[in-house]
Amino acid sequence: MTAPTVLRFGVFFQGVNFSTVWSDPASGSQIDFESFRRVAQTAERGLFSAFFLGEGLRLREHLGQLHQLDVAGRPDAQTQLAALAAVTSRIGLVATQNTTYNDPFDLAHRLNSLDLLSGGRAAWNIVTTDNAWTGENFRRGGYLDHADRYTHAEAVVVAAKALWDAWDDEIADATDAAAWSRPGRGTGTAEARTGHYTAQAVSRLPRSPQGHPVLFQAGDSPDGRDFAARQADVIFSAHSAFDDASAFAADIRQRTLRAGRPADDLKIFPGQEFVIADTDAEAEEKARWLRRAQISPQTAIAFIENIWGTDLSALDPDGPLPSFDPVQETTGETRGTAFRAAQAKTTADAWRARSEAEGLSIRELVIALNSTRGFVGSAGSVAATLQRYADAGIVDGFNITPWLIPSGLDDIVDLLVPELQERGIYPTEYAGSTLRENLGLRAPLTRRERAAQSA
Ligand SMILES: Cc1cc2nc3c(=O)[nH]c(=O)nc-3n(C[C@H](O)[C@H](O)[C@H](O)COP(=O)(O)O)c2cc1C
Repeated sequence: MTAPTVLRFGVFFQGVNFSTVWSDPASGSQIDFESFRRVAQTAERGLFSAFFLGEGLRLREHLGQLHQLDVAGRPDAQTQLAALAAVTSRIGLVATQNTTYNDPFDLAHRLNSLDLLSGGRAAWNIVTTDNAWTGENFRRGGYLDHADRYTHAEAVVVAAKALWDAWDDEIADATDAAAWSRPGRGTGTAEARTGHYTAQAVSRLPRSPQGHPVLFQAGDSPDGRDFAARQADVIFSAHSAFDDASAFAADIRQRTLRAGRPADDLKIFPGQEFVIADTDAEAEEKARWLRRAQISPQTAIAFIENIWGTDLSALDPDGPLPSFDPVQETTGETRGTAFRAAQAKTTADAWRARSEAEGLSIRELVIALNSTRGFVGSAGSVAATLQRYADAGIVDGFNITPWLIPSGLDDIVDLLVPELQERGIYPTEYAGSTLRENLGLRAPLTRRERAAQSA
């Protein structure tokens, strides 16, 4: 039998949406630096690999109004992570940044800057953001259709890597101007050809202690998975339930092998919520309380409005689902990712059947639909659950979504981490000072090494 995987944790700091209970009196501010500092430093005390930020460039709209199931109140990721780099020393700093609306060389330079200033702890979570209304923020508008997104994303990532690797590793110090400016040495040029534009850049920065930023990818389609298999170091997935995670790992490993890489080269981190208490019974009770705190009456109505496609604010959230059918056939792209392209009537029929069979009100149904997330139990029970994942080797870690900010990681760090360490399935110290070392990733080849390899 192979040794169990040593699991690693990241923390996914969301803005204001319904997964974090911002209404709880113990919650801090979602925009004060103090909240970010407290979460990042607690995570670092618990030897977490990464502090992770998502991105939403435009708030979703629903029935012509801003969509309250979306995430608001998120300061720019790179600015926030640069500030956190100053008050942490080991934890990785992951910025979600999309490939559709950023220019590759500008983005690559800013990420390289964060990587250098944090001592080799930066990562880029690559997303494509596939909707036209986000494009309204930008001069070029919503200029990419679904089929083009990953072709463009790959060209952007290849260009970013080329820029990062254009600086000669032997010249770590840019004060040696005579060395980096010498023809044929120093810094090389990088080109971007995306089909949408052509650009050429010269690297202005040395590589960081980890070579270049670690690449995460979040996108679940077959194209997204193949893109991750070719280009990424870590895939951030939504597949956390055991059987689902198992099938996902098998699929990703096949794709990684097909991309010409060792199967374990691409690490897998599903997002997950943890609810921990002294006993299993208390944790179950806490989870029940939590679901009601997460799904307010208004949230429940907003949730079903996605499917019905009409204003349901006059309905009683503690009453039954609407008896009339949805006014739309499929949910549109501006509705919210959870329902994208769902068949509205089929979903409504399934929900009505379930709520009738189980006697659930609208709010109870929405709570039930959202209750599959999360590991719930005492620290000992959750550790035993995680042991199963580690033994099966189907994930490399979890990206934890705390439901309370800023104290939401305290019990994970104080109670769960020691249990996992005792079982030998969690690090007992940071392996090194860079994110790449702490995730057990290979260093990217230098320009010279690549040239030698292809010679
Ligand atoms: C776990 C997960 C997290 C994601 N987080 C973000 C995010 O923070 N910002 C964003 O713009 N897109 C995010 N995405 C969406 C991806 O960018 C992508 O646009 C979307 O999943 C559609 O791509 P696909 O067809 O390959 O799934 C996320 C996707 C997944 C699976």
